[in-house]
Amino acid sequence: MIKFAQRLQPLRRNVFADMDSAKARAKAAGKEIIDLSLGSSDLPAGDHVLEAIKTSVDDPSTHGYALFHSTQPFREAVASWFENKYGVAVDPETEVLTLIGCQEGTAHLPLALLDPGDIALLQDPSYPSHSGGIHLAGGEIYWLPTLAENQFLPIFDDIPAEVREKAQMMVLSYPHNPTTALAPLSFFEEAVQFCKENTIALVHDFPYGDMVFSGSPPAPSVLQADRAKEISIEFFTFSKSYNMGGFRIAFAVGNRDLILGLRQVKAVIDFNQYRGILNGAIAALTGPQESIQKTVDTFEHRRDVFVKALNDIGWDVPTPAATLYLWAKLPASWQGNSMDFGTQLVEATGVAVAPGSGFGQAGEGYVRMALVRDAAKLEAAAAKIAEFLGH
Ligand SMILES: Cc1ncc(COP(=O)(O)O)c(C=O)c1O
Repeated sequence: MIKFAQRLQPLRRNVFADMDSAKARAKAAGKEIIDLSLGSSDLPAGDHVLEAIKTSVDDPSTHGYALFHSTQPFREAVASWFENKYGVAVDPETEVLTLIGCQEGTAHLPLALLDPGDIALLQDPSYPSHSGGIHLAGGEIYWLPTLAENQFLPIFDDIPAEVREKAQMMVLSYPHNPTTALAPLSFFEEAVQFCKENTIALVHDFPYGDMVFSGSPPAPSVLQADRAKEISIEFFTFSKSYNMGGFRIAFAVGNRDLILGLRQVKAVIDFNQYRGILNGAIAALTGPQESIQKTVDTFEHRRDVFVKALNDIGWDVPTPAATLYLWAKLPASWQGNSMDFGTQLVEATGVAVAPGSGFGQAGEGYVRMALVRDAAKLEAAAAKIAEFLGH
């Protein structure tokens, strides 16, 4: 019998793998699947982005390994874009790093920061790669309750002294997946203060920076609260703003020691991203930005249609101010059973949602529904959910 490492144990329980099996069973039984379980945009990447990638494919000089120095044009484009957008200058050589996704970056960073037994402070609920990376690094997790009664913001004062002492990193992420909450700059200022006082690396996963709907202020970068880049690192992706999820391209900016640590971990793991995709990403950052607003408007329209359709069938769901999701409290008869709700709903109707328990204990009692199908499909999904709930 091959023996597997203990660190694999926590990774074996995976709500999303179970949902995937339930989806496959529903498909095999002939159900039409309306998949709202993943935040994978159904909108296309920009033509100029695709053109840059296509041109690169025909250029053999892009076909070899890309070492750190060949990512320089990408890092320079990132640095200009970042300063222009958030008003904080970053050095492309030491304060920017190419990633193969925010998922990849957030999962690998703990290997640079944690010794076995060190504590990471994570939000409950949160995106699964945050905890997955801590498990891979042999770290311990202290969960920060991220609850509706506190506007889905953790309370730093509640963290006990002995936890602060052993904590090496804290991961925050706003606009927040799955709860859809936004955090104001003052919250980040508080987080920076807390992390400085306790010498904790502050990690901000920021994929939904642009995905803020009308009527809300823009989402702040953590570096606007830590302009000297003393303790913070922030992760951006092209998956949401530029609809490039399948291309796997993202970056980190921030404190140079944190960037260097992550770079050293990644140097034994990958050779960055294919240069053609880096060229596509440069085209995305330097080209016209109007498509971002169009994407946001599309998701906002879908949000309004879907929230109304669910309210009309008697499921009272709040209207999110940001992200690509609805975060809906389950009806009373399903409380405590988000996994059963997810698997039974997809097997009965073909509508796939993400059970809240997949994001942590505090996610139980909720489901997350991604706005990644057109308005007509979302209305059809609501009608099927009504049938399933017997409404
Ligand atoms: C909070 C969060 N982090 C990371 C990711 C993954 O991003 P990427 O495609 O850049 O790996 C997602 C995707 O949904 C996310 O919601």
